[in-house]
Amino acid sequence: MLVSAKEMLNKAKAGQYAVGQFNINNLEWTKAVLQAAEEMKSPVILGVSAGAGKYMGGFNTVVGMVNGLLETMDISVPVALHLDHGTYEDCKTCIKVGFSSVMFDGSHYPIEENVAKTTELVGITKGKGMSIEAEVGAIGGEEDGVIGKGECADPEECKAVADLGVTMLAAGIGNIHGKYPENWEGLSFETLDAIQQLTGDMPLVLHGGTGIPDDMIKKAISLGVAKINVNTECQIAFAEATRKYIEEGKDLEGKGFDPRKLLAPGTQAVVDMVKTKIKLFGSEGKAE
Ligand code: 13P
Repeated sequence: MLVSAKEMLNKAKAGQYAVGQFNINNLEWTKAVLQAAEEMKSPVILGVSAGAGKYMGGFNTVVGMVNGLLETMDISVPVALHLDHGTYEDCKTCIKVGFSSVMFDGSHYPIEENVAKTTELVGITKGKGMSIEAEVGAIGGEEDGVIGKGECADPEECKAVADLGVTMLAAGIGNIHGKYPENWEGLSFETLDAIQQLTGDMPLVLHGGTGIPDDMIKKAISLGVAKINVNTECQIAFAEATRKYIEEGKDLEGKGFDPRKLLAPGTQAVVDMVKTKIKLFGSEGKAE
């Protein structure tokens, strides 16, 4: 059964480790993340962006697929199904169709509007056994080929949003989605430290996990990050393994063109990547 991310993240924050959010894109991806988490005895969060949800046939289809897999794969570790960077409307849809967690990304609104919309959604999730993530300070990334320096959130605004009753808080600390540019200045630990001092026990979320050096990940965890999102790195691992299979001509040998064979090396690469991240984040063996 799907669970809220609340308990697993509060435990992670108290125990100074982080739970990974791995974004899913299809059936193979979902199986790979669940398999890795089960084998590592780690709690896990399955992230679904609006685009990925649409690709997989709608949020309701995703709920059906994930619930089915939890049963047939006999998954015993805590699993949350989480909307990633949701709009207000997408949050409402996901709450309705059976997600166990949502992220409302109001970071592009003026702070007053972010606060107002986050407050409403906290109210809607109340009593439903769900978790809700809010965001302050937009996470950077590539837009029309221009790579923005990750924004740094205002710690006071972080406190204001944390106090609304959200479960976890994403704050920009110089992080960026996708690959980091050569001249990236790294995470702003000064900002992170200031945010954690004001928000106390609130589990903090680090987006853009791809390509952040291991020592920075560990330092971020020591300063209160309890959830780390990874997407691009799994996509790259999947694509590399699939390319190798085709370049070696394996799809031309026997029934190597069968999608179940063609997609197997990529799927295994996602399993391996997720396991590597779980080890790095320190959540191995933390499922009870
Ligand atoms: P990356 O694609 O950079 O790993 O970021 C994932 C993410 O933050 C999803 O919200």
